[in-house]
Amino acid sequence: MSHSHEKVETNVGLMAVLIAVAVSFGGLAEIVPLMHQAEAITPLPGVKPYPALELAGRDVYVREGCYNCHSQMVRTLRFETERYGHYSLAGESVYDRPFQWGSKRTGPDLARVGGRYSDDWHRVHLHNPRDVVPESNMPGFPWLAEAKVDGEQVQQRMKALKTIGDPYTADDIAGAPAAVDGKTELDAVVAYLQGLGRHAPRGG
Ligand code: HEC
Repeated sequence: MSHSHEKVETNVGLMAVLIAVAVSFGGLAEIVPLMHQAEAITPLPGVKPYPALELAGRDVYVREGCYNCHSQMVRTLRFETERYGHYSLAGESVYDRPFQWGSKRTGPDLARVGGRYSDDWHRVHLHNPRDVVPESNMPGFPWLAEAKVDGEQVQQRMKALKTIGDPYTADDIAGAPAAVDGKTELDAVVAYLQGLGRHAPRGG
């Protein structure tokens, strides 16, 4: 027995393989059941894939690294639900690929930010946060107002998402370029932010 231990511990290659096997078992046991758990993979009532403009806004959100400072997951803790609203449910984010839950909170959680401010507030805030929140250390994103959303690209994204199961209809996809026509990336991010938390259960 002690001999075989020595064999493993002095052979880096063998050790690496055995570690990989051990970790895979752990992963299988934890992750595979989740993939089949209805609660985690069934959208909450009313939850649909992002409309074209919001999808474009979500991509900008990811590109700009907003997630480095903002989570999108309200924990099941009282001080969280009192501040943000109902805690997050898995069924809200089945069409979030990749999800934006996170845990880094330089700024507040954004899972329930939709409707909290006007579109105009977001426009000013994203241009230069200090114009509306003087003590803010969030960077400004002035270039978003200059860049137009690429309708063709949004359409391709929707097609790609459909192939992995997002229920976009042929009309959704055909209409994508028109839906974002003339819109800026700022319009898209604001639309995305205003939709966050739309499907949250009512109450804290
Ligand atoms: C370097 C960290 C940082 C980055 C990056 C960042 N933020 Fe923020 N954000 C903050 C901080 C801090 C606050 C709180 C002060 C304020 O409201 O400006 C905030 C506040 C907000 C708020 C208001 C939330 C509320 O409930 O009051 C929104 C909306 C927001 N950010 C969106 C964004 C978006 C969209 C991006 C990416 C384009 C982004 N943030 C990138 C730090 C950041």
